[in-house]
Amino acid sequence: MNVTMLGLGPMGQAMVRAYLAAGHEVTVWNRTASRADGLAAEGAKRAATVSEALAANELVLLSLTDYQAMYDILAPAEDALRGKIVVNLSSDTPERTRVAAEWLAARGAEMIAGGIMVPAPVVGTAGSFVFYSGAQPAFERIEPALRVIGRPDYRGADPGLAQLYYQSLLDMFLTTLSAFLHSAALAGTAGVSAATLVPYATELLTLVQTSLDEAARNVDSGSHPGDQANARMMGATADHVLAASRDAGIDVALPAAVKEHYDRAVAAGRGRDSWTSLFEVVRSKA
Ligand SMILES: NC(=O)c1ccc[n+]([C@@H]2O[C@H](COP(=O)([O-])OP(=O)(O)OC[C@H]3O[C@@H](n4cnc5c(N)ncnc54)[C@H](OP(=O)(O)O)[C@@H]3O)[C@@H](O)[C@H]2O)c1
Repeated sequence: MNVTMLGLGPMGQAMVRAYLAAGHEVTVWNRTASRADGLAAEGAKRAATVSEALAANELVLLSLTDYQAMYDILAPAEDALRGKIVVNLSSDTPERTRVAAEWLAARGAEMIAGGIMVPAPVVGTAGSFVFYSGAQPAFERIEPALRVIGRPDYRGADPGLAQLYYQSLLDMFLTTLSAFLHSAALAGTAGVSAATLVPYATELLTLVQTSLDEAARNVDSGSHPGDQANARMMGATADHVLAASRDAGIDVALPAAVKEHYDRAVAAGRGRDSWTSLFEVVRSKA
């Protein structure tokens, strides 16, 4: 299938190049028209308007900052939406994704939501994969074309599911990256370089990795049998990390949030349960 791409940020550009390399015809449009210059020179067809870009192909990919940008772009051209399959690869909340699917359905288009799980330079390579959700027949029709940008991982008919997987994993990714920077700031107060920490941090991440299966077993069963790493002991450690950060005069928002989770678990009588019992407090509002 030939494709239309609306949105030519780093991600949109990477996808267009992957399609061109795979021999697809690609029609492109971007709010800031100059961003299409390089792609046009490489063989993409430049549409003068959104309506013209929509008319060019049944399969329309969106790569925008958020879902509001979708309305900004498509609402003025809504007459051209009928019969299109719109794959929205922009990031946003599952709820806004569901609302967008209804908005498109009311205009005669089907929406497949996508969450791209790799950075732009990896798009189109063997390591690339993308979560999708939405109506299965529409997904199956376009799946061969979607393979060009990465391995498609279809999660179900609820359009919000792709974003739910995407945001859940980004939740962990962003928190882990911030945690490393916080560690580097703490160690840095004594002149320890971030590079010195990296080999230790790498070993620690392996330990985290090996803890995930056990954590998932406890979370999924709702049972958190106490072991050596119980909530009370881990909470005391969280308190030491917080105190060390305070003493060092660095930001304490992240360790304070972690300690607060342990405090709530202990207050709920889970001190002798496994640290995984934090899940039971995290899954409800504070
Ligand atoms: N970059 C990555 O490595 C990566 C990885 C995974 C997922 N993602 C997701 O992929 C999506 C695209 O990311 P990106 O890195 O390419 O850059 P981005 O800055 O998030 O998206 C830029 C694109 O959105 C357009 N845009 C934003 N607001 C608009 C509006 N109101 N009306 C019209 N166009 C609008 C921009 O147009 P202009 O050029 O005119 O500003 C540009 O084409 C994002 O949702 C991002 O979270 C990105």
